[in-house]
Amino acid sequence: MSKKYNVAVVGANGAVGEEILLLLEELNFPINKLIPLASVRSIGKTVEFGGGDIAIKELTHTVFEEEKVDIALFSAGGSVSAEFAPSAVKAGTVVIDNTSHFRMDKNTPLVVPEVNPEDIALWEQTGIIANPNCSTIQMVQALKPLDDAYNLKRVDVSTYQATSGAGKSAMEELVTQMQDFFAFKLDDSIPKAFPHRIVLNVIPQIDKFIENGYTKEEMKMVNETTKIMHKEIELSATCVRVPTLRGHAEALTLTFGCDVDADKARELLRKAPNIIILDEPSESIYPMPYICMDKNETFVGRIRNDNFRKNMLHMFVVADNLRVGAATNAVRIAQKWVEMQKNG
Ligand SMILES: NC(=O)c1ccc[n+]([C@@H]2O[C@H](COP(=O)([O-])OP(=O)(O)OC[C@H]3O[C@@H](n4cnc5c(N)ncnc54)[C@H](OP(=O)(O)O)[C@@H]3O)[C@@H](O)[C@H]2O)c1
Repeated sequence: MSKKYNVAVVGANGAVGEEILLLLEELNFPINKLIPLASVRSIGKTVEFGGGDIAIKELTHTVFEEEKVDIALFSAGGSVSAEFAPSAVKAGTVVIDNTSHFRMDKNTPLVVPEVNPEDIALWEQTGIIANPNCSTIQMVQALKPLDDAYNLKRVDVSTYQATSGAGKSAMEELVTQMQDFFAFKLDDSIPKAFPHRIVLNVIPQIDKFIENGYTKEEMKMVNETTKIMHKEIELSATCVRVPTLRGHAEALTLTFGCDVDADKARELLRKAPNIIILDEPSESIYPMPYICMDKNETFVGRIRNDNFRKNMLHMFVVADNLRVGAATNAVRIAQKWVEMQKNG
């Protein structure tokens, strides 16, 4: 009989944690025991799993050893991972971390299973496998097959990122502001999750600005893409928050080392793993956030040649940030890790 694992989900009742629980069930992950963990604030609460309710336990330094946790999926913020992931590793647990904390650590693999699954084998260097930023994951899934065929040189990307990228409270802020707007009591002075009101607005700032004029979110896309693709790719990003709940969209302009044909590129992407092509402009068929909600695939459309340069392509890429951009990628890493253990 194949082995089953004790799996902890850290941040189990958060926006990403809840999706991880759904994914573990949907993908029939071999679980012996599920251990949902969160802060002391969540003690007394439960999560639904496997047809029942499981009590949330407090995340402590000793819980991984006490519960004999084999795999821990962390999504409770960077500072929580910084503090508690080392305790998990010490207890012999493999950590799959959704936060940015370990992503650029040179000994920690940063993995998108469709792009660099071989890097999972490096997990023993730190005991941790990092999950990339949500905007990076869906983008590199679309870049990889095109880079293999046409030698990608440069990416220019503008994102349209949903409020759920900033967690549950950020989604609630959008909903509350919508309700306040319709009740004629919208108060612009009190945004919490974002620097400005998000309702009826778009905000060209995600995370903090750094000295070079870019935001940390934008620089994550630059640095993580290079690490995952094992290649220096010129990349410039403008990350924008938009008033949607779920699903990040990206307008990509790609420059290649040779001429590229949009029809051939579309066929390559059609064959790529976990990519769905929605590209019938005459029928208004293209990817949009509401179509990709709750899906585990990345949707690509509006694939077209540049008007002026034969080595450039443009396209629109959309995926569910809580799934593809977080939970699905993390659980797929866990699945591959399990496969690797089986094959010795
Ligand atoms: N949202 C996305 O699209 C996305 C994508 C990729 C990565 N991520 C990353 O995933 C992490 C979580 O994001 P989220 O969107 O799920 O946030 P969220 O909805 O705010 O949920 C946060 C979760 O973390 C728990 N938590 C917070 N502080 C804790 C502590 N000190 N000890 C233990 N648990 C604690 C919370 O439990 P309590 O209620 O008990 O505090 C809750 O379960 C972040 O680092 C984020 O950057 C998010």
